[in-house]
Amino acid sequence: MLRLWNAISCLLLASAAAASPAYSLSFENTAIVRTVDLGGSLVHVTTTFAVKALKEAASVYTITLPEDEIFNTSWLEVKVKGTHQPLTVTYNGAPVDSKSHNLDVSLEKPLAAGANINLVLETVQTHATWPWPQKAAQDEDQSLKYETSLFVLSPYSTSVQRTKLKSSSPRIISYTTPENVEAFTQENPVTKSGATVTYGPYNNVPSSTNQEFLQEHQQHVVLHYNYDYPVLEILKLKRAAEISHWGANLNIQDDIVLHNAGPELKGQFSRLQHQTQSFYGRGAPHVLPLFTVHLPPGIRNTYYIDQIGNVSTSHLRVAPSVARGLKNTQSSVMELKPRYPIMGGWNYTYTLGWDAPLGDSGSYDSKTGKYIVSVPVMTEVPGAVVNDAEISIILPEGATDVDYVAPFTALSNEISTHVTYLDTVGRPMVTFKYKNLTNKHAKPIYVSYRVPVFAHLRKPLAVSTVLLTLFTFAMVVRRVDLTIHKTPSKKM
Ligand SMILES: *[C@@H]1O[C@H](CO)[C@@H](O)[C@H](O)[C@H]1NC(C)=O
Ligand SMILES: *[C@@H]1O[C@H](CO)[C@@H](O)[C@H](O)[C@H]1NC(C)=O
Ligand SMILES: *[C@@H]1O[C@H](CO)[C@@H](O)[C@H](O)[C@H]1NC(C)=O
Ligand SMILES: *[C@@H]1O[C@H](CO)[C@@H](O)[C@H](O)[C@H]1NC(C)=O
Repeated sequence: MLRLWNAISCLLLASAAAASPAYSLSFENTAIVRTVDLGGSLVHVTTTFAVKALKEAASVYTITLPEDEIFNTSWLEVKVKGTHQPLTVTYNGAPVDSKSHNLDVSLEKPLAAGANINLVLETVQTHATWPWPQKAAQDEDQSLKYETSLFVLSPYSTSVQRTKLKSSSPRIISYTTPENVEAFTQENPVTKSGATVTYGPYNNVPSSTNQEFLQEHQQHVVLHYNYDYPVLEILKLKRAAEISHWGANLNIQDDIVLHNAGPELKGQFSRLQHQTQSFYGRGAPHVLPLFTVHLPPGIRNTYYIDQIGNVSTSHLRVAPSVARGLKNTQSSVMELKPRYPIMGGWNYTYTLGWDAPLGDSGSYDSKTGKYIVSVPVMTEVPGAVVNDAEISIILPEGATDVDYVAPFTALSNEISTHVTYLDTVGRPMVTFKYKNLTNKHAKPIYVSYRVPVFAHLRKPLAVSTVLLTLFTFAMVVRRVDLTIHKTPSKKM
């Protein structure tokens, strides 16, 4: 999978990767449809390229993304329509002066000349919308703006292309009417129908990655729309997953700073007004009264704590524990209801933790003699981006041969040692750091390790050493005691 951030750093090093005109002959696009699902912190974009090969054995298709879009893209995947396996995508530099970036998609099988294929590019953009107006009173609506480029770029010519911007609400306040597109359409260049604004169809669009096209035709369009849900960002997620063979337990604790990134609250917060609005089912869309997360089945000792203490207004429904590997497992559902509703611009700091049977996510491979445990990167808070994440997996004491497979490359990862009470040599700890995580990133990290037989004994040894010490100490004390008591008694 491609890491855009890596891609961008590569770009800074290799600034002048020349565009080779040869590849533009390999394909043409019979149609491009881009669908943008407008959200709050997350915007999902699906672009379908109906592609026709013009040459024999054409096997590398190039997708071009504008620079401003790539900076906001946190997740990207290309598949052949109707298949599950993502294709390999390689970053291939930026054409000179183009302010755009090329991604090469390797097709599994080369196409014969004249053959067709449908490629689906899926991306998730983060922080791409902004509240407008920037402030809202408690009883006001919430509206956001989103900006994108009018044309989907492609090094190949395109018979027809269109972009659909889909809002969750039909209350679209305004949208840009593009200019200078008569060459591509005789009709209205933009139409609105219900909650969807469609740019195009634009016909016979030539190769669009060159300076000439960009200067002449490319332009930005802005959509201003009502959004009926709070815009959430997790500023910081600190997840610690502690594996204990001793108790056959996996403890997960999330320390979270949640932020309402919607319009800032205008004036003072009034609880009375909030309660009246909620009572009539008209809670303001930019206020977060509660939210729901899905936790693993079979969890115990769940705790939800904020800066004041235990939050008792939460509600948890635990699904029964199921053997690992079974499909369609139900998740436990936890409704978190903060002490006070979270208004636009406010932060909310809390801790959510639970214990789960280790057997639900861990197994022993007798062939290699290693344990394998899976720990999800994160628990999705619906609609929220995670700006900054640090995930630590703490292994049993004395674990060796530590290895891991992460679902995507971390900004950094390291293996260190974590020492807790009663540990003698400390526990190996694997730490991963990420930025801008989306719902697409909520996948497991697999950690494998060996626990030598001696290490299993270390804990009991440590415990018994402590006990023995206490015991000895007690005996000494008692002896001392005796003498102290005896001495005066002698005097008596
Ligand atoms: C993301 O998109 C928004 C809106 O287009 C823009 O203001 C912001 O600068 C972008 N972020 C980055 C890192 O480019
Ligand atoms: C904390 O709150 C939960 C309800 O969410 C309650 O079941 C539990 O007993 C409380 N624990 C303490 C220590 O108060
Ligand atoms: C929210 O938290 C962030 C980071 O911890 C901080 O920079 C910001 O000032 C906080 N905002 C408020 C309103 O407290
Ligand atoms: C995360 O998103 C922010 C805002 O869009 C951007 O400034 C930053 O560069 C992104 N970081 C990474 C590592 O992608």
